[in-house]
Amino acid sequence: MAGKTPETLRSRRWYGEGPGSTEHTSHALQAGYAREEFQGRPVIGIVNTWSDMNPCHAHLRDRAEAVKRGVWQAGGFPVELPAMSLGEGYVKPSAMLYRNFLAMETEELLRCHPIDGAILLGGCDKTTPGLLMGAISMDIPAIYCPAGFTMGATFRGERFGSGTGPFRYAPDLIAGRLPMEDWEAIEQKIWSSPGTCNVMGTASTMTALAEVLGMSLTGASSVPAMDSRGHQLGAAAGRRIVQMVWDDLKPSDIISDASVFNAAKACVALGGSTNAAIHLIALARRAGTSFTLDDFNDIGRQVPVLANVQPSGEYIMHEFADAGGLPALLTQMASKLDLDCATVTGATLGENIRGAKVGDANIVRPLDNPVATEALAVLKGNLAPNGCVIKPSAATAELLQHRGPAVVFNDADDLAARIHDPDLDVDANSVLVLRNVGPLGGPGMAENGMIPIPRKLAEQGIRDVVRISDARMSGTSFGTCALHISPESWIGGPLALVEDGDEIELDVAGRAITLCVEDAVLEQRRQAWQAPEPHYKRGWGMLFSDNVNQAHEGCDFDMLASREPTPEPPVHG
Ligand code: FES
Ligand code: MG
Repeated sequence: MAGKTPETLRSRRWYGEGPGSTEHTSHALQAGYAREEFQGRPVIGIVNTWSDMNPCHAHLRDRAEAVKRGVWQAGGFPVELPAMSLGEGYVKPSAMLYRNFLAMETEELLRCHPIDGAILLGGCDKTTPGLLMGAISMDIPAIYCPAGFTMGATFRGERFGSGTGPFRYAPDLIAGRLPMEDWEAIEQKIWSSPGTCNVMGTASTMTALAEVLGMSLTGASSVPAMDSRGHQLGAAAGRRIVQMVWDDLKPSDIISDASVFNAAKACVALGGSTNAAIHLIALARRAGTSFTLDDFNDIGRQVPVLANVQPSGEYIMHEFADAGGLPALLTQMASKLDLDCATVTGATLGENIRGAKVGDANIVRPLDNPVATEALAVLKGNLAPNGCVIKPSAATAELLQHRGPAVVFNDADDLAARIHDPDLDVDANSVLVLRNVGPLGGPGMAENGMIPIPRKLAEQGIRDVVRISDARMSGTSFGTCALHISPESWIGGPLALVEDGDEIELDVAGRAITLCVEDAVLEQRRQAWQAPEPHYKRGWGMLFSDNVNQAHEGCDFDMLASREPTPEPPVHG
């Protein structure tokens, strides 16, 4: 690959010599930098998703300082660029409504400024795909640095995971078996420190996939947020990105069909979040690879769950990290991977993981002793012509083959109003259906696909029933939940046609989901169906609604997934 020189740096167009550069040079001088501190040096943009509204990222301002230290050490010029933070818990109606916003913001921040290389600071769910999607489209050298996960916790003497822990106790609270003061103790323990959810939720899944794709330093996704190694890795990333600029090592040199397949295989071996089935497809399409939801299904059959981490397994993230973390897991499944893929380290994936040790083979399992056989299955049928996903490893085995009558909730408000009604006509055999919660219907495809167990069933000790929706669910969730039904009900997908009492058959082994209603009846209902009024008539919501594609396509905007070149901005002095 052709390397860069001070004369060919992208930032040279701003920080050259002579009157044409005066405006930019003067601003750098105004900021307190001497000419020798920035001229002729790679300018490294640190895209930082720190925010007071995202406690998972509370430490990222300090992390940015560590990155800057590394950039200075290697002869670069670091600048910090704040970007929308997408705190998963706070952002409404769903952080997913804004993932593409962050992706656009990241790409345009890098494009409109004199940036030669980027460090991406994120971690909380949508921030990882958002940052990476933008960096892939901008295609300048970039390293993704994950925030790291929150501290471990226990409750009543048992290991207690973010999200997964409270979800396990929620039926007891609903049924009146858990006192409120115990619930308040749980609230204190869900996140015990800054950092991302400490189970294999969306955050830990996506930070791991960023590393497998080749976009993070080795082992970065297996470091707790409050561990000093996080700052050490930040500084190392700062040093490394400067060299990557000189080498002109870009995302397009790193992400390939093979690295995306590696990431999908690692995802199922991690028992990763179902959300990855959306984000990885979006990333793959940005990178111009051919990866589809059907590929994910095939991989789900080929690779078992090896990470014994909640919600598919027993342990939580710091224990997984202590047992060797992601590099150890990748050595366990090395025979399934393409080890020749390039990475930001300058070495191949195989070289990166050489020497990684499995500290505990119960937590990081070998292929012949998996935690579960299937982490992700894609079901299709007349209810989901373009597919839906389910996580068998976090479901109830007996329900993976099931037929029962539908109990339909028309939207999230209807669900909230009726789910715990004592008169709700529901039993353990029922199939709970929630619709109008997809990408457009939600809007933003919120994580309400783990429909709560109705109180009257919870009181009988029932902890799981079959649940079907066009929503997503949190990666920390579990249960027999078929999600991401595509096309969604809001645009007239077959989920819109289901009525109370219709029989629905779930056949995970056969990869089928069937609405057992005659075609002629469905056609009558389709004729009578009326499209709902759009949620938005202006603003971002309208831009999102006009452009977002469906879950099986990654919920990206086609105009952003496009590989058409974007011209460099004119830079006039
Ligand atoms: Fe931020 Fe889970 S809420 S990572
Ligand atoms: Mg979430």
